[in-house]
Amino acid sequence: MRFHILTLFSGMFEGPMGESIMGRARRRGLISVHVHDIRDFTHDRRRTVDDYPYSGGPGMVMKPEPLFEAVETLRESGELGEASPVILLTPQGRRFDQRLAEELAEREELALICGRYEGVDERVREHLATDEISIGDYVLGGGELAAMVVMEAVSRLVSGVVGSAESAANDSFTTGLLQHPLYTRPSVFRGWAAPDVLLSGHHAEVARWQRRESLRRTLERRPDLLDGVELSAEDRKWLREMGYGT
Ligand code: ADE
Repeated sequence: MRFHILTLFSGMFEGPMGESIMGRARRRGLISVHVHDIRDFTHDRRRTVDDYPYSGGPGMVMKPEPLFEAVETLRESGELGEASPVILLTPQGRRFDQRLAEELAEREELALICGRYEGVDERVREHLATDEISIGDYVLGGGELAAMVVMEAVSRLVSGVVGSAESAANDSFTTGLLQHPLYTRPSVFRGWAAPDVLLSGHHAEVARWQRRESLRRTLERRPDLLDGVELSAEDRKWLREMGYGT
């Protein structure tokens, strides 16, 4: 998976994209991150990337020319495929979630445009971006952190990036449910014991416990998610015992 980032703040990507999962995946060649400075696509001495809004009011707007030139240069040089999505990070975009991460993980390559200031010229949305994504209903100083969130969530779904396929498949949300509680040694810590079933070595019983606790946690914290989940007869029985849908 190749990511192209268009940003005014290249330095923001250095730490987060070099550590942990992302750093390891990059060193192993499973993903690559190409950061492009939008100012490199300006032509005036001051490398201007923003201007006043025609509508007046506070703040500045990102000019269209450097962004169009950046994407077109990448496409013409073959660095970015003709059909690869160009995603604008903006609070006005489609809400990012695990399903969207799964959709994006099927692509070979993504370009991510990080907006700053009050926003980007509307012609960027209309004629350059193929998609717009928001990571949540709050306003960040720019799209950089949002782009990193998208990259990390998508990269975890790329084959080989996380330890085992099973560990990604069991994530909260992949199953449509929140993840069950996790325990490690010691089995008793300050008098608080891990559930006996987890120490029993009975794989089928452990799997049933995990499923039941996933259901319990989802019911307690995000009951809205249960609507989208396929439930077995046993799931329904447990949920009834927990007071759901009775
Ligand atoms: N830029 C500013 N806020 C954002 C958000 N919530 N999601 C994506 N990009 C943004």
